[in-house]
Amino acid sequence: MKTYSVTAKAHPNIAFIKYWGNQDSSLRLPSNGSISMNLANLSTTTTATINPDLRNDQLELNGSTQTGPILRRIQQYLDLIRKMYKRDGFLEIKSKNDFPISAGIASSASAFAALSTAVANLYDLHLEQKELSTIARLGSGSACRSIPSGYCEWKTGSRHEESFAISIAPEHHWHLWNCIAVVESNPKEVSSTKGHNKADSSPLQQARILDAPHRLDICRNAIIKKDFGALSEIIELDSNIMHAVMMTSKPPIMYWQPTSLLIMQEVMKIRQKGVAAAYTLDAGSNVHVISTEKNYKKVDEILQGIPGVVEVLKSPTGSGASLIQSTSTN
Ligand code: DP6
Repeated sequence: MKTYSVTAKAHPNIAFIKYWGNQDSSLRLPSNGSISMNLANLSTTTTATINPDLRNDQLELNGSTQTGPILRRIQQYLDLIRKMYKRDGFLEIKSKNDFPISAGIASSASAFAALSTAVANLYDLHLEQKELSTIARLGSGSACRSIPSGYCEWKTGSRHEESFAISIAPEHHWHLWNCIAVVESNPKEVSSTKGHNKADSSPLQQARILDAPHRLDICRNAIIKKDFGALSEIIELDSNIMHAVMMTSKPPIMYWQPTSLLIMQEVMKIRQKGVAAAYTLDAGSNVHVISTEKNYKKVDEILQGIPGVVEVLKSPTGSGASLIQSTSTN
């Protein structure tokens, strides 16, 4: 029997201005725009194979066959793509992350960016980058920002076709680094998908959304002008505002651990002493410390010395999603 495989690779991204809450959760149309940086040293590589013998989509993640909710999320995603583009044929998906899954680094962005790139090629969809970004978004909102290269902005949009990410600066424009301080994680963390659905229950969410265009302008300009001072101020503000929404949702979601706060305080202290460092946290307790080419080794050393930090992962700015290979067998 004939099979056809496509392999694609993508990097996760760290949001500088966060996506939190949806106007339409089934389409993942966000409540506000967001800006992020792709992370070169972390990646997901996914091979999708079309095989006429399959009676269902199958998923292998880091070498283990999936049967539960992760498989269902992938199957629902593939059903949606087949319906949208009128394609047939179940797929076997094999996906590997080169970063420790136990570190609690959200992998859905790189996972859906790699998967959508592989599937678009396998089903011969002939998509431009913008459209590829829209279909990655349907799998996981933040995945649309892992399709283009470097520093990316996801425009809100009010329809499916309008909501995609574009690169606002290539990866070599500014050599920033992300030092991720991995904090002992609390296994009961609420998934981002569940968190987005609770965002509107916070009395602070409307104010957060209304002010988002202003924060996006400041962040975009800071990236374009390579202004680390302006960038630090805006990304810490945006992270704090998102966590304020999380903490005031019903019921409250508390992602910070005591060590997370310790790290944030240390980052503010070292910045006052002249070390380029700024913190931002996603839906978890790990602290992403953004730094410069000149300062990141110093930041790494300081983070390693903070009690409660399990490890520090480091990455410069990365490229977008790419196709690695296509193979057919008889
Ligand atoms: C806090 O993209 O993981 O990291 O669309 O439900 O998969 P789903 O959510 P996801 O949300 C990311 C939330 C965030 C902020 C961000 O990356 O912008």
